[in-house]
This record gives sequence, structure tokens and C-alpha cells, in this order.
Amino acid sequence: MTKPNPEHEPLRVLFVTSEVAPFSKTGGLADISAALPAALAAEGCDVRVLSPLYGFIDKQRFGIDSRPIAAAFSRTGPESPQPQFYFLECDPLFDRPGVYVDPFTNRDYIDNDYRFIALCRAAMEFIRAARWTPHIVHCNDWQTGLVPLYLHESRARKSLRSVRSLFTIHNIAYQGMFGADAAMRAGEAHKYFYPAGPVEFYGYMSFLKAGLEFADSLNTVSPTYAREIETSGEISHGLDAVLRARGEIGGILNGIDTRLWNPAADDFLPATFDSGSLDAKETDKQALCARIGLPYDRSIPVIGIISRLAAQKGFELIAPVLGEILALPAQLVLLGSGDPYLERLFTEAARSYPDRLAVRIGYDDEFSHLIEAGADLFLMPSRFEPCGLNQMMSMRYGTLPVVRATGGLADTVADADSNPVTGTGFSFDDYTPEAMMEAVRRAVGAFTERPRWRKIQKNAMAQDFSWNRSAKRYVDLYRRTLSSNPRVIA
Ligand code: ADP
Ligand code: GLC
Repeated sequence: MTKPNPEHEPLRVLFVTSEVAPFSKTGGLADISAALPAALAAEGCDVRVLSPLYGFIDKQRFGIDSRPIAAAFSRTGPESPQPQFYFLECDPLFDRPGVYVDPFTNRDYIDNDYRFIALCRAAMEFIRAARWTPHIVHCNDWQTGLVPLYLHESRARKSLRSVRSLFTIHNIAYQGMFGADAAMRAGEAHKYFYPAGPVEFYGYMSFLKAGLEFADSLNTVSPTYAREIETSGEISHGLDAVLRARGEIGGILNGIDTRLWNPAADDFLPATFDSGSLDAKETDKQALCARIGLPYDRSIPVIGIISRLAAQKGFELIAPVLGEILALPAQLVLLGSGDPYLERLFTEAARSYPDRLAVRIGYDDEFSHLIEAGADLFLMPSRFEPCGLNQMMSMRYGTLPVVRATGGLADTVADADSNPVTGTGFSFDDYTPEAMMEAVRRAVGAFTERPRWRKIQKNAMAQDFSWNRSAKRYVDLYRRTLSSNPRVIA
């Protein structure tokens, strides 16, 4: 292969991810894996996305070609515009109803190491087999952590010498830790498995650490989270020293898909609106209340929550003061699934407050649009948040976020009391129920100050959360990665 000259030819990017919307999704990574490649393609990149073909993906609906491109890869139809999606077919590993977790037992699949070793191996196979050599292999989270290692081990091959890897940290809390035997299964990884070595972490084999150590470049999804994971052992889950040793980690803020999340043209809404027609939002609030069985009351705010029910999201702050929140003039709507304990806790609480609290356990994309549009406030008191998408979606729908100022939440929400002119929501610092309550009270109070409320809504709706800017920053990062020396680990 000739040496890439990204100034003159399109950058070829292989984007490897364990989930991609609308095919598969457990959280924000899936949104990003769809929207960022599309934005990169719009910047002129030649992007291919590689992800597993899970059992629940409807091949027919998506026109996924069962004609194999090479061995085990299939892709969306040849007519599909850039970027192209390729799927790794491997039925014993991926033809299952869950992405990471077995829905029947609520536990991680016990062979997740095999499954994602297979994805990483497949990425290498793809590069060799597709007769399309990428300039950059863009890896995302622990499931793809071995790709940079395999690439490092393949540098002896002339055809792969110029390929560089970027590893994006979407959530450092998920580390892909497995017993030492996984290092043997992972082939070349085993030689780096020794105490404090590049794939060993507290006696375990860590897919994430492999990615952090071997990638030619690293970044994460917001500037504040970048600083937090480099300085806090708690937020980095013990990997801060590894990150510091690699030098400064950049944070490129995620965007949202502004075509899918557009209050002025959202097919899931009974009434569409923009910042000039906010009265129509009231129709969506009415529909939301009717749909979830809450009495509609124009004069009190509905607070929405859409979330994985996981420790990260701060439910431990909400649980002890739930009664206090519901004693305010406010109603709460929660859509989420995950931790069975939290599912039970909120379902039972809803029985005690039928007029104030409505809970829907499950995953429901359509209903999530109605919550974004119909709610007045959106609560996201995360313990940590690499970026967070729901606060941005909320702002676009004039639904004011109440957030803990951490990670991407700190970078995207301006507190309306500290920033009277430019405020877009409400935020608090201390990770305590009291600090959260104080912010919730301020938000609920502001709801009654009509002209001020409208002003904050308009500020929020005027924010630009599209991918345009961030996609350009990824292109710059790819270019910098290509022009620097590859990472070498002895
Ligand atoms: P995370 O990736 O940590 O879960 P993000 O805010 O980045 O957090 O992304 C979460 C994504 O998943 C958003 O698109 C959100 O709307 C969606 N989501 C989470 N839970 C649900 C649910 N129960 N139903 C529908 N969408 C959900
Ligand atoms: C992770 C993070 C979330 C981020 C998403 C996409 O799931 O928890 O904050 O928005 O990845 O980068």
C-alpha cells in the first residue's frame, strides 16, 4: 500500500463498535456509532462500521445482505449511502437475545471474552480481507480494546505498517476484566500479561487497559471527563496513572443526531414545535400524561428521566428524597431498565404516588421521544457521566435539564441561576441528595416564572449539539495520529 496522504485522498476509517443504532443498542455508544460515522462521511471520509450481527437484528428489515463479503462479513445493501455497515456473523457467539447481558439471567454472558476477542480478531481479518486498507481503525470501549494490540503485533506486515489506531473511551467504568485464562485465549495478548504489564490489571486480564496502552491515540467524549479520568482514581476506576503516563487525553464532545431528535419534525410526537411555537409542547405534555396514566396539570412541571438503571446514573441520590420530590408541585416520569433492585424500588414507589409518579420499566425508543418533548424538566444526577446524550436531547426539546456538574453534563449545561443571561438548565456539584434537592427546588420554582422560563428554554433550544464541529475535530485527530509515530510497547 502506498503511504497514505490524507491531504489528497479521503481518509479511510474502520469504525469498530459493539453496538450501533438502529441495529443494536444498550446506550449512548450505539447513537454515537451511527451518528459520528455519518458525520465523518459528510466530511469526506470513507467510513466503514464493523459490529456484531446479534440474533435480534432483523436482516430483512435492514436489507442486510447475506452474501458474504469475505468469510463471515455481511453488510447493508450495496445501495446504502456512506457509511457502510458491516456485520460480523458468528452465530454461536452473537445469535443471542442480548448484547452483553443475558436477559433471562440478568448476568453478563459468561463467554463475553470469547465474543469480543472474536470481534477484535474480525476487525483485523476485515482489514486484510476487504482489500480496503484503512488509514485509521477507530476503536470504542473495552469490547474493541484488543484491536490496537493486534495491530501493534501486525506491524511487521508491510501492508499494515501505516495503519494507526484511535481508542475512544466512552465509559472507563466498564473495563472488560476476565480471568488470566482469557489472556491465553486472546493469542498475542498473553505475552503482555504479567504483573503491572499492559494487559494486566489487579490480576485480571483487562481489555480496556490493552486499548489504553496499545492505541496510537486516545481520546474521550468530553473535556471535563478527560480531566476527571486523568486526575481521579475514583472516576477512572483506578486507571488514572495509566492515562497520565500516556500524556494529555483530549475530550471531543459528542453530538446528537439532530435529524432524529428534532422537535420540529419528530414523527413520534402528536404535536411538533420549535422555539417560536412552544405552546404546542403543551399538547405533547398532555399526551405524555395520558399515555402513562398521570393526571395532566398545566401548572406543575413534569420531570422526566430516561436512563439505564445503573449506579452511574445517580439513582442513589433520588431514592432517599423521592417523597420530598413528589411533595413539591411536580410529577415524575421514569423510563428505564437495568438493575432489578432499582426496577422494583421505583415500580413499588409508583403504587404509593399514583398521581405523582409513573414508571415504565423497559426500553422504548418511541416513548423516549414523547418524554423528551412532553416533560418540562429532565433529571440526570449522575455520579459520573463521560458525555451523556439525554441532557442534549432535552435541551433541543425545550425540556430543561437538572444535572450534576460532572463530565459532559458540566460541559453542556449552564446553570440558569449562576448564568442569568445564558443559562440552559440547572446544575449542582456535591454528590448528595441535599445538593440535588436544592437544584430540583430551584428548577421547580423557575417553572412558575413564565417569562424567565421561556427565556431559559429558548437558550437551551438555541444550543448547537449537531455533530458538525466534533466530526471536524475527529478528522483533525485522525490526521495528527497518522502523522505521528506508532506506539511501540516492548
Ligand atoms: P449511557 O450511554 O451511559 O446509557 P447516554 O446519555 O450517552 O448514556 O445515552 C443513553 C441513550 O440511551 C440515549 O439515546 C437514551 O435516550 C437511550 N435510553 C436509555 N434508556 C432508555 C430506555 N429505557 N428507553 C429508550 N431509550 C433509552
Ligand atoms: C457511555 C457514557 C455516556 C456517553 C456514551 C457515548 O455510555 O456513559 O455518558 O454519552 O458512552 O459516548
